[in-house]
Amino acid sequence: MAEKNTEKTNKKASHRSKLSQNLRFKEETRSKLAAIVESSEDAIIGKTLDGIITSWNSAAERIYGYTSKEAVGRSISILTPPHPPDEILGILKKIKHGDRIDNYETVRLRKDGKQIDVSLTISPIRDAAGKIIGASTIARNITKQKKIDKILKESEHALRERVKELTCLYSLAKLIERPGISLEEILEGIVELLPPAWLYPEIAAARIILNGYTYSTRNFREAGQHQTANIVINEEQRGVVEVVYLEKKPELDEGPFLREERSLIEAIAREVALIVERKQTDEDKEKLQDQLRHADRLATIGQLSAGIAHELNEPIGSILGFAQLMKKYPELSEKAMQDIEKITKASLHAREVVKKLMLFARQMPPYKTRVNLNRVIEEGLYFLESRCAKEGIKVVRSLSPNLPEIIADQAQMTQVLVNIVVNAIQAMPGGGKLAIRTNASNRFISLTVEDTGVGMSEKVVRQIFLPFFTTKDVGQGTGLGLPVVHGIVTSHSGSISVDSKVGRGTKFEIQLPIAEPGSEKEKA
Ligand SMILES: Nc1ncnc2c1ncn2[C@@H]1O[C@H](COP(=O)(O)OP(=O)(O)OP(=O)(O)O)[C@@H](O)[C@H]1O
Ligand SMILES: [Mg+2]
Repeated sequence: MAEKNTEKTNKKASHRSKLSQNLRFKEETRSKLAAIVESSEDAIIGKTLDGIITSWNSAAERIYGYTSKEAVGRSISILTPPHPPDEILGILKKIKHGDRIDNYETVRLRKDGKQIDVSLTISPIRDAAGKIIGASTIARNITKQKKIDKILKESEHALRERVKELTCLYSLAKLIERPGISLEEILEGIVELLPPAWLYPEIAAARIILNGYTYSTRNFREAGQHQTANIVINEEQRGVVEVVYLEKKPELDEGPFLREERSLIEAIAREVALIVERKQTDEDKEKLQDQLRHADRLATIGQLSAGIAHELNEPIGSILGFAQLMKKYPELSEKAMQDIEKITKASLHAREVVKKLMLFARQMPPYKTRVNLNRVIEEGLYFLESRCAKEGIKVVRSLSPNLPEIIADQAQMTQVLVNIVVNAIQAMPGGGKLAIRTNASNRFISLTVEDTGVGMSEKVVRQIFLPFFTTKDVGQGTGLGLPVVHGIVTSHSGSISVDSKVGRGTKFEIQLPIAEPGSEKEKA
């Protein structure tokens, strides 16, 4: 019996010790939990299902600015800003149903009135029987994170825009370098490169107008929201680069456009101007090379003709001389006499051709003196005006008074005038107007002969200075008139240019250097 009692007492003691162990354990857990809650970086708030605050840790004090004393017992709605409308009721309703809310991002109001961004995790609190009696909220202040996110997003966006612009400029550089590409192809390419570089590529369209020509994307139409930059070449506006949005977009830096898009469109306009300038220089170079080639060809032909002319000069002289002698034979029949006459005429023509050839090849030595070109014109026209009158051609002179003198071979100058005027007369079979002008500039005088005749095609113009080029019937022209003019003008250090339109007329302009004051006579 005594044994049984001891056993009982022992059991009781161990039960007690277990109980107190349990209690101690619970106590320890509670204080550990309290310490965790206290040291948490996040606000941990307990509240009843009516939203009355029941607990408030130190992080909650730091984040919201209320002390625990101030907060506990008050409604949680002290933390909600007036806008947007209070969502706490909705949240508590969910909690009552046993639901949990995870990482819910919203805005809360601090005691000092400042709004902060928070991420909330809210879970129901149950009593020992499992009944929901409240809610615990863990709130993380994400204001800083939000700000950083926003900055990151903005810089990422800006970076994407910059990449688009750089891609546009890079593609443009590659386009220009393409061998053999024409200016038209470059401009057509550039308008296609523009829309993808703008903020809203899907609704962007582009157009370039240059020297009156238009290059545009297929979808281009005039729209209200557009950005333009002028194309300026040699300080003159020659066109415009334009980007339009086909739908209305909200206002940014310049209408719906970004500041960077302004810089880009200006850069494109400048690039187009540079391309045009470069192409122009290339064309000028090409033209110059063409002229050089032409001059070279003329020189070669000149040498050749000089040789032929020299060789022919003597035999033609003999033919003429012997023909003259033959005419003196009394026993010649009338028929033979006529034949000899034909031989003489043909030889005279041949001698004329040879003379022109030698002149063209500069084989005739010029005799240069101080010459007043106005006088040469007056004297030369004296013989031609009656012919003009007969053909219904009105001659209009406008000779600059006090024209400076030139150093020239007077006979050759007359040749120049006569050759050009005769061509003009021949170009106006139905009559017309012949204008002859002289003018003086700083170092040159100019002679202009303009007719209202048949004009020339570009193909004819390209060949008129070539010896024996003629569009006239055999016997009508030798094709040596203009080559001779060209030879004389160049041997006088001058230049000749022509401007002609089929059906409208032709203008020849010759420039010759003015004589320096002291140079009295010059023999070339
Ligand atoms: N004023 C003009 N209007 C139209 N065509 C012209 C004019 N001047 C020259 N031409 C063209 O240029 C060509 C060459 O002229 P160029 O004076 O060298 O030879 P041509 O007149 O034919 O013969 P010629 O040796 O008798 O002068 C002409 O055949 C003509 O087709
Ligand atoms: Mg002629």
